[in-house]
Amino acid sequence: MMDWTDRHCRVLHRLLSRHALLYTEMVTADAVLHGDRDKLIGFSPTEHPVALQLGGSDPAKLTEASRIGEDFGYDEINLNVGCPSDRVQSGRFGACLMREPQLVADCVGAMGKAVSIPVTVKCRIGVDDQDPETALPALIEACVKAGVAGFVIHARKAMLAGLSPRENRDVPPLNYPLVYALKEANPDLTIVLNGGITSLDEAKAHLVHVDGVMLGRAAYQTPALLAEVDSRFFDGEETDIGAAVEAYCGYIAERLAAGVPLNAMTKHMLGLFHGLPGARLFRRHLSENVTRPGANLQTLRDALAHLQGATESEAA
Ligand SMILES: Cc1cc2nc3c(=O)[nH]c(=O)nc-3n(C[C@H](O)[C@H](O)[C@H](O)COP(=O)(O)O)c2cc1C
Repeated sequence: MMDWTDRHCRVLHRLLSRHALLYTEMVTADAVLHGDRDKLIGFSPTEHPVALQLGGSDPAKLTEASRIGEDFGYDEINLNVGCPSDRVQSGRFGACLMREPQLVADCVGAMGKAVSIPVTVKCRIGVDDQDPETALPALIEACVKAGVAGFVIHARKAMLAGLSPRENRDVPPLNYPLVYALKEANPDLTIVLNGGITSLDEAKAHLVHVDGVMLGRAAYQTPALLAEVDSRFFDGEETDIGAAVEAYCGYIAERLAAGVPLNAMTKHMLGLFHGLPGARLFRRHLSENVTRPGANLQTLRDALAHLQGATESEAA
């Protein structure tokens, strides 16, 4: 998620779930081709399995960016056909591509031929005045013909005229049944449902109808839920959050030594203890101290100390 997640966040999330598939935020093909690649798409081997999400609509550029992503070691390349921001529309990519199924198909077809890892698409169910009942199947059909077999569907329209990107994540109504029906009509495709899923119980209920679920905001804002993903959805065990935090401290120490600011890593922990005694003091300690000169791992340890011995009345 642009401006929220990054490689540090993915390391934390991976420590909480070994099996959940993680995605990068969208990186444009142009940025991959011309920008500082290590900074933009570099990642730690511990993050696997991890997908690189690209934005763009030029088949040649997307193909080259996909090759680069594969060479970096990504497990999947995902094309963004769902982002509604103005910046993105002016570049003719993101959600506005829902109107151009053939162009999307040309892109993913070329990308798929260039790499040996899966190429998938993340899309909406339509934009503006499109009828989702026809717009979504049209996009899927074009992509399937081009060789794509995996889709993540944010089950609401994007209203490109009139709503802000933030509103476009909440205001247009969710239509889960449309996505269920798509899966029923196309049993061979891998259909992952996204949008408005806030708990693992909800996720479980959706999985009766679809192959997977993607959690965006809930995973970021309340990452502790990831600790139960392996035991509930994979053949794994529940993660000990204390052990994950300890391992993340080890990662932080390493990256601090490489010059990464403390805040860039601890900001992803702010929701980790949500609802637990001491969580508010933990967050306050971090926000007051993390950017001070000399802030270091001890700053985080001091913040974590608020969680030990806190009483129920201090629950946030
Ligand atoms: C701050 C923010 C940035 C986002 N950036 C991306 C992005 O880069 N690529 C993408 O496919 N979706 C992006 N999204 C959308 C989410 O992936 C997801 O589709 C949306 O929030 C609905 O799912 P949720 O209700 O589980 O959060 C972003 C969402 C937020 C809140």
